[in-house]
Amino acid sequence: MNIMNNILITGNQGYIGPALVAILKEQYPSSTVTGLDTGFFESRPTIQRAYPQILPDYQMVGDVRQLDASVLSGFDAVIHLAAISNDPMGETFSDVTKQINLEASKDLARRAKMSGVKRFVFASSCSVYGASDDNAFVNEESPLVPVTTYAKSKVLMEKYLSSLASPDFQVVCLRFATACGASSRLRLDLVLNDFVYTALTSNKIKILSDGSPWRPLIDTQDMSRALIWACYKYSDSALPFLAVNVGRNDNNFRISELAECVASQLPRTQIVLNKDASPDKRSYKVDFNRFKQLAGADVPQMCITQSISQLIDCIEPMLSQGGGTQMNDYKRLHILKGLIEAKHLDSCLYWNRSPAV
Ligand SMILES: NC(=O)c1ccc[n+]([C@@H]2O[C@H](COP(=O)([O-])OP(=O)(O)OC[C@H]3O[C@@H](n4cnc5c(N)ncnc54)[C@H](O)[C@@H]3O)[C@@H](O)[C@H]2O)c1
Repeated sequence: MNIMNNILITGNQGYIGPALVAILKEQYPSSTVTGLDTGFFESRPTIQRAYPQILPDYQMVGDVRQLDASVLSGFDAVIHLAAISNDPMGETFSDVTKQINLEASKDLARRAKMSGVKRFVFASSCSVYGASDDNAFVNEESPLVPVTTYAKSKVLMEKYLSSLASPDFQVVCLRFATACGASSRLRLDLVLNDFVYTALTSNKIKILSDGSPWRPLIDTQDMSRALIWACYKYSDSALPFLAVNVGRNDNNFRISELAECVASQLPRTQIVLNKDASPDKRSYKVDFNRFKQLAGADVPQMCITQSISQLIDCIEPMLSQGGGTQMNDYKRLHILKGLIEAKHLDSCLYWNRSPAV
């Protein structure tokens, strides 16, 4: 087993980061965890009760585009989450996405290697495959055909990391399915989370497509366990670079099926399909067998029913206490646009003032 005492997590103040810190501290209480985040969403409404807020041992406030070279010294491993983290943001801020997700991320990895970091874990995405044929599964051997700026940034970063990896600097790229589930910093711009929220608030799920596209889903808790596995447990000195799909095969759903799963737990829900919608290009069905073979007990454990019931447990009390009435407060793109409008961020997403801490 690897000795990873000193861990840096970038982007720890987003949706996945809080679950990751909590589960990592639970599994490895003697590890020292440092967070590094620019705080785009730090002061936004959060839901505290989904997880006990376990904070990192140290929190650095900073932008990965402006890092001091010395910041990385002393860490055994880096888990790199910081990114412009979905397609709509990637299209709206395409230059910034290239700066953060690619150029700054490359610098971070290169400096990590130079500083003696032994393990670099990168949060990649199954969107690297682009669209797949209706009933065909994509696996790690499938061609990478990213269709968005966001997905392209993940492909290019993986490619760079594969050239940097060495026996002393092992790289694991986790190609995650679409995230879902409870978090102390909830996002509602993710398909399942959106469906549960709108079912709870309006008894209706409006599907923008004809409901046929495939999406693989993974709960934030399982993402966290996979990131920890990649950091502490994966070991193959003959293979310094690994890129693997992370999810579970039975969590590949058509969008309409996802809505039906929500409606089965919230029976008053009416599902409205847009039968005239043009085909959604982002349809993909993913094979997760390789991760199952590699990760053993650390494979995803949460089925969709559990993720939905935890989301209901997370959102219902928030609504009953009069909070969470503005869905846009939980959508990443809307938050960034609001910060620009209020002149807190400039158009390149640099702070005009110190971020709230
Ligand atoms: N959410 C998903 O469905 C999903 C799926 C696959 C992969 N991923 C990847 O997982 C990672 C985390 O996703 P998330 O859902 O928690 O995203 P998020 O948007 O909720 O969080 C990202 C965090 O990164 C920080 N950040 C962004 N730019 C930064 C910069 N320049 N310097 C420092 N910090 C910066 C933000 O402040 C935020 O706290 C991302 O890399 C994302 O691409 C997410």
